[in-house]
Amino acid sequence: MSVPPQPATASDGTTIPAWYASQRSVPLDPSLYAPAPDELAFYKGQTRITDEDELKAHVLKVQRDAYEVWPYPCIRRLAFTKLKISRFPVYEEVLKLGRERQGAILLDLGCCFGNDARKAVADGFPASQILASDLRSDFWALGHTLFKSTPETCPVRFVQGDIFSDAFFNPHLAHPHSMEAISACVDSASLSPLAKCASIIHASAFFHLFNEPAQLALARRLNVLLSNEPGSLIFGSHRGVRDGVPGERDGRESFAHSPTTWRAMWEDATRGDASVQVEAWLSDFETRPMSAEDVKSVSVDENGVPLHPGSWLVWVVRRA
Ligand SMILES: C[S@@+](CC[C@H](N)C(=O)[O-])C[C@H]1O[C@@H](n2cnc3c(N)ncnc32)[C@H](O)[C@@H]1O
Repeated sequence: MSVPPQPATASDGTTIPAWYASQRSVPLDPSLYAPAPDELAFYKGQTRITDEDELKAHVLKVQRDAYEVWPYPCIRRLAFTKLKISRFPVYEEVLKLGRERQGAILLDLGCCFGNDARKAVADGFPASQILASDLRSDFWALGHTLFKSTPETCPVRFVQGDIFSDAFFNPHLAHPHSMEAISACVDSASLSPLAKCASIIHASAFFHLFNEPAQLALARRLNVLLSNEPGSLIFGSHRGVRDGVPGERDGRESFAHSPTTWRAMWEDATRGDASVQVEAWLSDFETRPMSAEDVKSVSVDENGVPLHPGSWLVWVVRRA
């Protein structure tokens, strides 16, 4: 008789729910390390490790250490090697905001190692205008190990906290602050000073960690962080399902939205604010460049079956 998966204890003493704990006992698969040429070039440039075997060993060592912190499937898949932020159709818009909007702030929420923030910096987004945030500072520290950086050599700033905690981010308290918002966040160990100050929020492989009511609460919180200036945007990707079958994911207490339920959730979160536009579609892959093919995935045949059944929900919420 098979024993049902049991919860475990993480290195910080918190409880790892049964589903995640069951993943931790499955050996990592080094063959999943298969960087594309641009990914390899980025990692060589950042780490200054030019020998490819040495680089692979280094990346896999950090992966193992991170998997011990918390066994997220994205760490197992080595998603952090995929330059994901740069694969979104809105990425050029993001870089343009960094170039053209005075002081535009990019928040990378659920940043893990900070790989996406580093990619944006490499592509010209001012590092001083990026704030990375995560529940677990161990991941941010492992990011310095991964990229062989220090807080001095990587000027992206980080603030640790639980986005659902009012002590960390109180959406009802827009802090008046005299200093610039990122410094105020770091100094107060809180996201509250960022209310209405983020021009761009990136939140990938993040919403799908939570159940349906929590995802709605999260959307409301991000809407408070987002600047009211037209062109401000929130974007990301996470596990999704085709229309008609949204629901709980395999025993994880997390919810998978379809493009339609995702748009409805944002309408609810923004109280039907007509100035907010939501695009969402399904894609087969989390990290490859999006093409016109992906857009077809929201079309269905005469039986309601998607023409292109993707399992990643890719989305942009934009202030018009
Ligand atoms: C699956 S990883 C995604 C990392 C990265 N964004 C990506 O796309 O590969 C989810 C990240 O969210 C962080 N996280 C989980 N719950 C959180 C919370 N309540 N508040 C802030 N960060 C959280 C985790 O520590 C982890 O680094």
